[in-house]
Amino acid sequence: MSNSATPRPIRKAVIPAAGLGTRFLPATKATPKEMLPVVDKPAIQYVVEEAAGAGLSDVLMITGRNKRALEDHFDRNYELESALTKKGDADRLARVQESSDLATMHYVRQGDPRGLGHAVLCAAPHVGNEAFAVLLGDDLIDPRDPLLARMVEVQQTYGGSVVALMEVDPEQIHLYGCAAVEATADGDVVKINGLVEKPATEDAPSNLAIIGRYVLDPAVFEVLRKTEPGRGGEIQLTDALQTLAADENVGGPVHGVVFKGRRYDTGDRGDYLKAIVRLAAERADLGPDFKTWLRGYVAEEM
Ligand code: G1P
Repeated sequence: MSNSATPRPIRKAVIPAAGLGTRFLPATKATPKEMLPVVDKPAIQYVVEEAAGAGLSDVLMITGRNKRALEDHFDRNYELESALTKKGDADRLARVQESSDLATMHYVRQGDPRGLGHAVLCAAPHVGNEAFAVLLGDDLIDPRDPLLARMVEVQQTYGGSVVALMEVDPEQIHLYGCAAVEATADGDVVKINGLVEKPATEDAPSNLAIIGRYVLDPAVFEVLRKTEPGRGGEIQLTDALQTLAADENVGGPVHGVVFKGRRYDTGDRGDYLKAIVRLAAERADLGPDFKTWLRGYVAEEM
């Protein structure tokens, strides 16, 4: 059991990014869905910024075929940098350099896409025997509502694993992993007694949905190796976490941090559009003009 008395700091983040992005075809025919812009930054950059902001400066991306643009985005681009330097365009130069200065990036390919649990298992050799974070690219968390830093803090206090939960409309719970919980002395922390992947509304143990942030005990790797394909014929991370929650001797307890902040879903087209409108409206540079236009547009159309 790796759950020791003195917590070790969490340094590594794992970002699964091997999905085919079929919901966004044809945009994702030759471009990874993670590179689709949310205002003027690729969606994946927000996620790497979040990891770095929580002190996780070692980032492993689980990729696959067709994902080379991700590696290029987080690398230097000397040609572009020297062109902007020659022009004296310091602002744009800084924007180009931002993504390559965020974190130490590593990449591994998933090969066979056998589900989220299998993607996380691909991180085992890199992560080794220490607790680590997993961030799913379809969930964007507003940087003004830091969630991951709180989860890291909770993991350091309680040990074991920590998942992010959010209350959703019971009609929506079939889209998420769902947790059976009990309260703790900390208002935003619950102990997780059970987890089920994408239950029907009538079978759901609560309206608490897993949103895509996890801090995991490395015991999860051994569990994932033994986890049979579950929902959709895929190896589910939720099923491995259920095994951990059912027996604390395997990898310590599983807790949830109940998030009440701003979350943007970029996983489907409608939600992606909403995320762009909300984030653009809030931007100091673009927001004022954009909102004026938006008000006029809504008044005309509705
Ligand atoms: C995955 C997880 C699910 C979780 C969701 C959060 O599902 O399997 O438990 O609630 O991410 O976004 P996906 O949305 O990849 O189908």
